[in-house]
Amino acid sequence: MKGILLHGGKGTRLKPITYTEVKQLLPVAGKPISQYCLEDMIAIGIKEINIVLGNVGAADVQQHYGDGKKWGISISYTHQAEPLGIAHAVGLTEDFVGDDPFVVYLGDNLVHGGIGKLADGFISGKCDAFVALTRVRTPEKYGVAEIDGGKLLRLVEKPKNPKSNLALAGIYFLRPSVFDVIRQLKPSGRGELEITEALQMLLEKGMNVGWAEITGWWKDTGTAADILDANRLVLDGIGREISDGVNNEQNIIGRVKMGTNVSIDADTMIKGPCYVGEGTRVSKSFIGPNTSIGSNCVLDGVEIEDSIVMDNCSISGEGRVNIHESLIGTGCTVETRNGVRKGTKLIVGRDSRISF
Ligand code: TTP
Repeated sequence: MKGILLHGGKGTRLKPITYTEVKQLLPVAGKPISQYCLEDMIAIGIKEINIVLGNVGAADVQQHYGDGKKWGISISYTHQAEPLGIAHAVGLTEDFVGDDPFVVYLGDNLVHGGIGKLADGFISGKCDAFVALTRVRTPEKYGVAEIDGGKLLRLVEKPKNPKSNLALAGIYFLRPSVFDVIRQLKPSGRGELEITEALQMLLEKGMNVGWAEITGWWKDTGTAADILDANRLVLDGIGREISDGVNNEQNIIGRVKMGTNVSIDADTMIKGPCYVGEGTRVSKSFIGPNTSIGSNCVLDGVEIEDSIVMDNCSISGEGRVNIHESLIGTGCTVETRNGVRKGTKLIVGRDSRISF
């Protein structure tokens, strides 16, 4: 089986971050979201993966994943010049796929526990396609499945009156037969070739489209709040991994995962679950639960929790700055000189300078 990992899209809901960043590379517990997807595919034995690049940050994606040797697999790339839909992105990979079955994984989706059971369902059911379904509270925002007697009858994208609360998650097992169907698709109301419609056409042609419900958590990280949720969920599963020789280890409480060469002064407390990347220096600060701090950051006089700070950031609060539910892009500088700032919430893109 081959793998397709999507890195395109408009990323409208994640502006301003997505003006400069590929949303699929945003870090959760110190690792890009799409790397969790890549590792899920490798875990089911996939050795050839094609990454579909969008028109933002293609070079960053290629730099991170390279030719795949780092993971012992082969990675190739396809460029999607315009974000014309998931089915459009899949359609571009026909040559790569050849005659093989394949899985399409949206690079901003996270699934707890991997995709092994789904792959088994696809193979053992000899299905033409196989979809992952998950129960959601707002089905009208998703592709929704209509099931009867265990059989998938219909898939409808963002229905006004959903027939169930089972939504399509971003993992689709397919065969080359889908390319004929994609060629017949017309752009939807939002101007995209919809994967839900392609799957519905397979159903209408009488093809065997299997399904399984995802039992653990699933997260589509389309918004900043979703990414922070994903950060919480992933951090919830980490253990304590403290770097050798870290000073003031007694100030590190609970499940904290740490890179090498992290420095913590005696006036700092870190309370897990947290991730702190290599080379980061923390002084006179409190890093609270559900926080991921990137590599080579400097935090001085800061209280922070429920947040993600990307690499190479500097955050200082001469009084004390209290930051929560924030997403702070790579290379940002945040400083406050005017006493205590409670409840500061920042969603800021790469290299921003904030002084208040
Ligand atoms: P979405 O999150 O549904 O769409 P989007 O990325 O355009 O974001 P927004 O709605 O905020 O504008 O996309 C789901 C996944 O599919 C995501 O990983 C991006 C990927 N994708 C592509 O690779 N190509 C595309 O043309 C589209 C629309 C999405």
